[in-house]
Amino acid sequence: MGDMSDIRNIVILTGAGVSAESGIDTFRSGTDGAPSLWEQHRVEDVATPEGFARDPDLVLRFYDMRREAIQTKQPNPAHHALAKLDAEWRGELLIVTQNVDDLHERAGARRVLHMHGEHLNAWCTTCDTRSRWTGPLIDRPACPACEARALRPDVVWFGEMPYRMDEIYAALRRADLFVSIGTSGAVYPAAGFVRDARSLGAKTLELNLERSQGSGWFDETRLGPASNLVPGWVDEVLGG
Ligand code: APR
Repeated sequence: MGDMSDIRNIVILTGAGVSAESGIDTFRSGTDGAPSLWEQHRVEDVATPEGFARDPDLVLRFYDMRREAIQTKQPNPAHHALAKLDAEWRGELLIVTQNVDDLHERAGARRVLHMHGEHLNAWCTTCDTRSRWTGPLIDRPACPACEARALRPDVVWFGEMPYRMDEIYAALRRADLFVSIGTSGAVYPAAGFVRDARSLGAKTLELNLERSQGSGWFDETRLGPASNLVPGWVDEVLGG
């Protein structure tokens, strides 16, 4: 990344590619020939409010499966390296993740913001309370706060507003370095962060298996698996 001496504030955007080597399916390009999630399920059916209204059982079952699966997965060296960076970096740092798994946290990272929600939360559409949730939702369990049977997965679907955008843009405005890791750059607003960060004066770096859609906006691109690229980059940052 060249000279790090003028870098104090870092914003890191992560996507499904960071968790791919933990065995969690990516959405758009399958790893090792395996079909991606959106090749196995129709986005309109399982990841939109309209799909949920049409067939709630299908949607609840889909997320019950995913919620159960992520709890059997473990963080990989990319998550661990980012947690180390979080622990040791003295300047500002924010890991904005599009991932709904909890692998950044389980690796020990603390400055994590889930802009697309979290599998391990249930959201009560009656009282608006979010509760930590590890079991299924298909049987319409009662909300721990209000007892209504109106819990849904706390994940942001297509057509819904991502969470905590004000905080994200505030961090991007202060950022000296923006790093995008393991995301295809296909979904806005996250896909636009690189342009925002760049126009606000930050250096921009991409770490991904293949070039993302907005690859041309990055000052530097490194291609390879996250489990290899991320620890190497973190060592550079902390060592330099
Ligand atoms: N290391 C690094 N990058 C990888 C790896 C790996 N081991 N495996 C895959 N990738 C890259 C792919 O090349 C791809 O560019 O990760 C990216 C994953 O892209 P997507 O599947 O589109 O995932 P993401 O960018 O996180 O999707 C964004 O789309 O459907 C929504 O809400 C969902 O948050 C998600 C959003």
